[in-house]
Amino acid sequence: MSHANPSLVVAVDGTSGSGKSSTSRGVAERLGLRYLDTGAMFRAITWWLLREGVDVRDSDAVAAAVDAGRPGIESGTDPLGPTITVDGTDVSVDIRGEDVTAAVSPVSAVPQVRALLLDLQREVIGGGGIVVEGRDIGSVVWPDAQVKVYLSADPDARAARRSAELGGTDVASTQQSLLERDRIDSGRATAPLTMADGAVHVDSTHLTLAEVIETIVGLAASARP
Ligand code: DC
Repeated sequence: MSHANPSLVVAVDGTSGSGKSSTSRGVAERLGLRYLDTGAMFRAITWWLLREGVDVRDSDAVAAAVDAGRPGIESGTDPLGPTITVDGTDVSVDIRGEDVTAAVSPVSAVPQVRALLLDLQREVIGGGGIVVEGRDIGSVVWPDAQVKVYLSADPDARAARRSAELGGTDVASTQQSLLERDRIDSGRATAPLTMADGAVHVDSTHLTLAEVIETIVGLAASARP
């Protein structure tokens, strides 16, 4: 089904592991929209910094490397097969590795990283027709989004789901890692994770994926043009 409003932007923000990716892809598919995973872009920059041997805990070094290197990140926006490359290299698998996951939150707190990706994100969103997931989409990247969702779930539910996705990792340490990322993502000075003005809070703890998708499709159906 394609959506009647070609300029529609659906912003899906929320904590780590709250189901943003499956939900956003499902909504995009249902509505015939494109899909952008902005977390993958932060992961791609982090992958590049690690490959370049930059100390990712040193924000000055990260800022200098990004300013000097300007890595070229490209995101494919098909919800059935999203892609991401860095200077032409497919990094879609490597960006999900533990080393990138452990470093991505501190890297995302560096203003130069955010500035580089903000321009790219706005370029991809362009005229709309897209579901965009992240932490600051409704608040900073696209405050005019017609639909803004803040997706959350209890930490126990998030850790259990993420651990299953990762093939059965230890639930307690998975939960610790999610909460640590939330702490950094919510506490940073630039564009922290927050519930945007006008966002609808959807708590997915006791909902199935299909129910969350249905809720957002319903919000899109009644969105302003
Ligand atoms: O959604 P994810 O877990 O793949 O995101 C990885 C990290 O990227 C997350 O811990 C914080 C950062 N991020 C961000 O700061 N802003 C966004 N819009 C998306 C992700």
